[in-house]
Amino acid sequence: MLKKVYIETQGCQMNEYDSSRMADLLGESHGMVRTENPEEADVLLMNTCSIREKAQEKVFSELGRWRKLKEKRPDIVIGVGGCVASQEGDSIRKRASYVDMVFGPQTLHRLPKMLEERQHKKIAIVDISFPDIEKFDFLPEPKVEGYKAYVSIMEGCSKYCSFCVVPYTRGEEVSRPFDDIIAEIVHLASQGVREVTLLGQNVNGYRGHYHDGEICTFAELLKHVANIDGIGRIRYTTSHPLEFGDDLIAAYQELPQLVSHVHLPVQSGSDAVLAAMKRNHTAADYLQRIQKLKAARPDIHISSDFIIGFPNETDDDFIDTMNLIAEVDYDHSYSFIYSKRPGTPAAELPDSVSEETKKERLARLKERIKLNTLRKTQAMLGTKQRILLEKTSDRQAGYLVGTAENTRQVLVAAEADLIGRFVDVTIGDILSINTVKASEILWVEA
Ligand code: SAH
Ligand code: F3S
Repeated sequence: MLKKVYIETQGCQMNEYDSSRMADLLGESHGMVRTENPEEADVLLMNTCSIREKAQEKVFSELGRWRKLKEKRPDIVIGVGGCVASQEGDSIRKRASYVDMVFGPQTLHRLPKMLEERQHKKIAIVDISFPDIEKFDFLPEPKVEGYKAYVSIMEGCSKYCSFCVVPYTRGEEVSRPFDDIIAEIVHLASQGVREVTLLGQNVNGYRGHYHDGEICTFAELLKHVANIDGIGRIRYTTSHPLEFGDDLIAAYQELPQLVSHVHLPVQSGSDAVLAAMKRNHTAADYLQRIQKLKAARPDIHISSDFIIGFPNETDDDFIDTMNLIAEVDYDHSYSFIYSKRPGTPAAELPDSVSEETKKERLARLKERIKLNTLRKTQAMLGTKQRILLEKTSDRQAGYLVGTAENTRQVLVAAEADLIGRFVDVTIGDILSINTVKASEILWVEA
């Protein structure tokens, strides 16, 4: 009997989402429960990430540890899923022959069947195909704990940025059916979820269909989600600058549920680098979108991803990036040194920039953005903020912890019966770069 599954997740929120769906799936098919301890698991699953080389290296070192567990308990089933599995396929088993199942981001719904086959036929299973959006038709309704949930609205990416493996590992963009998304969020709301994060590589490229066959755009989808009883807050990630249209900007004026934070990756502020990255827009195009968005929602907090040291990035290119950072006034960023990914067009480009220069640029960028984060946290002092209260504080007795729209953690002196509700508070104290404390509660949701 397989009773316990341990799932290790690497990388992005899409993977976090997929991992929780794997757990739901095996719960339904085999009555398995998720454990946090690999030593006691009957099934060990690794949901891998291949966005950068470092992530990929971790897969085999971790698998080495799992091999030792399997030597002690040969009945353990080991599965590797996610983007490394999708890219490497059968060659995973060449390096790690003790792996029993290899599956991709679009075949994880077949896990129960793979597991059955593995148990009965005693052969290893490899399935990394892209059977369109079949995945969602085979997933059970999600189970949640807490007040926040992720909901996948589209899979894959068709943008083919020259540095990125995602279109190859997750396949091309496919929008999830409109009805399925709404049904899932209604179900989540019935379990007490108050905040949803709509997930996809390019959520604003969403093109679903209504019953009459008409197209539902991302901006329209947001309105429908905002109308669902119980959903008080909507976040989404990631959006692409190219499809950040006026209709989406208008949603920031119409929908109070849409938080005043958006993650809109730009990667670089240099037009030459943006062109070489095949992002298909200039820094000025991006800035124009941001200015319009700020006009629609003046307190918007903006975050981005940056790739530093793209092949042949010059000092001037880097200065352009720093200038864009100053103009946009980012709240935070996820920034990494460019990592050559096999099979992507950029991997063929000659690169003359030294590792030292790349590291130095990255450190400067991070330093700059950290100052912004701190300044924006400090600016919260004395302001009114809407908070979703989520749990009691481990560190401060008598306090609840919640999250502000701009992602800061907020301590609020309140009774536990307010957990799961929205409150408006005044910020009275700044505790750290990401944590503040409320001085008074101004309003409590009925
Ligand atoms: N769909 C998102 C990005 C998904 S990948 C978008 O439109 O931008 C997440 C982030 O990983 C990217 O934004 C990029 O900053 C980073 N990334 C992707 N490939 C990379 C590479 N080869 N080297 C370094 N960072 C990379
Ligand atoms: Fe990757 Fe560019 Fe798509 S970064 S996920 S190819 S938008």
